[in-house]
Amino acid sequence: MTIKILAISGALRAASTNTALLRAAQQLAPEGVEIEIYEGARDLPYFDQDLEGEPPASVVDLRERIAAADGVLIATPEYNYSIPGVLKNLLDWASRPYGESVLTDKPVAIMGASMSGFGTVRAQNHLRDVFHWLDSKVVTKPEVHVGQNHTRFDEQGNLTDETSRGLIAGLIAALVLKVDRVGVAA
Ligand SMILES: Cc1cc2nc3c(=O)[nH]c(=O)nc-3n(C[C@H](O)[C@H](O)[C@H](O)COP(=O)(O)O)c2cc1C
Repeated sequence: MTIKILAISGALRAASTNTALLRAAQQLAPEGVEIEIYEGARDLPYFDQDLEGEPPASVVDLRERIAAADGVLIATPEYNYSIPGVLKNLLDWASRPYGESVLTDKPVAIMGASMSGFGTVRAQNHLRDVFHWLDSKVVTKPEVHVGQNHTRFDEQGNLTDETSRGLIAGLIAALVLKVDRVGVAA
């Protein structure tokens, strides 16, 4: 049986190193694990609680993709010491209406790349707080903090840093273990 992972980047820019981490994860995924990169974040409006019960099509699509996935893999930048607004907005839509969140019990793995040496430590910690409230099943180890991201990729955006590649492979393995424990989506 194939394990389906939905990969979400916290950055919209074309040359995003975080989206590039997700492409690396696609290459590093073992047989039987399929990683699809979500491309709809740009189409999501700002969260509006008046619309949470009857949301626009882009939100319905997001929720369906998360619900159908066995697990979620996030690669996020750190913006001003925290979670990028684009990603927080996406999670707010996915978490509502209250009691109907598609993230409840969902296996989730987090990684991130940034220019500083801290490699999104602060943003990832804030993200873990969000998933704590959402009752998602978050992988804790290995921690994947790709610092000084400008040194880790070639000009085509391929992740060349072997340590980071090894950590991402380990993160995918840990996510698959979490999926095995929680159960595969129907
Ligand atoms: C609005 C903004 C805020 C940023 N704040 C931080 C920060 O708090 N910590 C950090 O390490 N880098 C910060 N950076 C730099 C990012 O690490 C860098 O732009 C990174 O490459 C963004 O990820 P991306 O390559 O996926 O777009 C910030 C960049 C932007 C645009």
